[in-house]
Amino acid sequence: MATLNEQGTKANSGEGTLEFRNVVKEYRVRGAHKKLRAVNDVSFTLEPGKTIALVGESGSGKSTIAKTILQLERPTSGDVLIDGKSVPRRGRALKRYRKDVQMVFQDPFASLNPFHSIGHHLERPIRLHKAVGADQTVDERIAELLTRVNLEPVEEIAGRRPHELSGGQRQRVAIARALAPGSRFLIADEPVSMLDVSIRLGVLNLLARLQREENLGVLYITHDLATARHFSDEIMVMYRGDVVERGPSDEVILNPQHDYTKRLLAAAPDPDRLGQMRDEVRRAL
Ligand SMILES: Nc1ncnc2c1ncn2[C@@H]1O[C@H](COP(=O)(O)OP(=O)(O)OP(=O)(O)O)[C@@H](O)[C@H]1O
Ligand SMILES: [Mg+2]
Repeated sequence: MATLNEQGTKANSGEGTLEFRNVVKEYRVRGAHKKLRAVNDVSFTLEPGKTIALVGESGSGKSTIAKTILQLERPTSGDVLIDGKSVPRRGRALKRYRKDVQMVFQDPFASLNPFHSIGHHLERPIRLHKAVGADQTVDERIAELLTRVNLEPVEEIAGRRPHELSGGQRQRVAIARALAPGSRFLIADEPVSMLDVSIRLGVLNLLARLQREENLGVLYITHDLATARHFSDEIMVMYRGDVVERGPSDEVILNPQHDYTKRLLAAAPDPDRLGQMRDEVRRAL
């Protein structure tokens, strides 16, 4: 049985989770005396097989959270923990963390190297993290990954460069690359907002399927409340660095408590869209 520590939380209960604990991130602003507090004492825990959506207006601190998880930024205070332990700052342990926690960026074009083939983009993380199955060659692993994200014929796709693919196909490559090391957690920062509206749902459905199959813990950052609702178990609403509301997705959308959440919902482009999206998702599944 889990024991309780002084804070009344379960001791040794962090196994299998990625925890963001009381994180504060301040930036120095040139010419200003006060620092900018981009993230103000935010805590949450990603668990395998679960998606948390992070929503909020531009500048509310969403990407700062993503960057802090990825160790691209250091928290001013607070901590990021994996399996109950602080994320290592360097060395082999940090490499192992990078294998566990991967990112899908907003702009697939910017995140892929125009000079390298798709196969090369996948080969690097596979070799770096020795992520091949028993009796599997690197080429077989590349083919497996491309098939998983519905990019076929695999030999042909592997030989292409990023500009020879459509935007949706490029984002599928970025997703395959994020899965390549055998990751356990995925941080997706507006993964479909640069894509044409007509293909967004396909890419989100793909992410949802892979998450189920691989039991990934996902942080889904978005401006879109409709997809946040349908692709997430829980929604956290950020406003100027604070999490102002959080809860099960349906509850937050159908029964918002905070004024800011109500305003966000009222500002959603089409009030009917939430229902419409549900129907579209059902049809696509
Ligand atoms: N490296 C930095 N130096 C200084 N200020 C920064 C830096 N990165 C972000 N900020 C500031 O921190 C705040 C939060 O930025 P962040 O990128 O996290 O917002 P966001 O919620 O992701 O917005 P968007 O929806 O537009 O992507 C903003 O005021 C931003 O200007
Ligand atoms: Mg952002």
